[in-house]
Amino acid sequence: MNYYVVTGGAGFIGSHIVDALIAKGSGVMVFDDLSSGKRGSLPIGVPLIVGDVRDAPAVATALPAGTDTVFHLAAQIDVRRAVEEWLQKFEPRVAAIAYLRAQGPRRSRMVSRLISC
Ligand SMILES: NC(=O)c1ccc[n+]([C@@H]2O[C@H](COP(=O)([O-])OP(=O)(O)OC[C@H]3O[C@@H](n4cnc5c(N)ncnc54)[C@H](O)[C@@H]3O)[C@@H](O)[C@H]2O)c1
Repeated sequence: MNYYVVTGGAGFIGSHIVDALIAKGSGVMVFDDLSSGKRGSLPIGVPLIVGDVRDAPAVATALPAGTDTVFHLAAQIDVRRAVEEWLQKFEPRVAAIAYLRAQGPRRSRMVSRLISC
């Protein structure tokens, strides 16, 4: 069975990806700080780790062994805040991509694909 991690999985797009993965019988784990997402957006039984993608040790700990693919949707999408606080907007995206990529060579936490939009 394929195993997926969805960052920002409690948000709008992430939760739809979670639904689609569950519908095809895949294993899914969500990593989200719930800053705008909601636990109630997730199907019952989907594991949720509440954390910030900028926290490298938390991300490293969260990635289960055998994770095939990470869908990276964690982001702050409020346009006004994005203009006023552009660094905070982009840091989660950039930092998390760097951390998640860095997991690749690690023996037990191999992530073969990282998908972000
Ligand atoms: N909604 C759209 O129409 C649309 C279209 C194209 C691209 N996108 C992109 O897709 C991504 C997700 O968009 P969305 O509409 O689902 O947004 P959303 O706000 O509904 O979801 C983002 C999720 O990320 C979580 N999050 C935010 N910062 C975090 C952090 N530091 N650590 C962990 N979790 C964090 C939030 O709690 C939330 O659940 C964004 O990058 C957005 O720009 C969205």
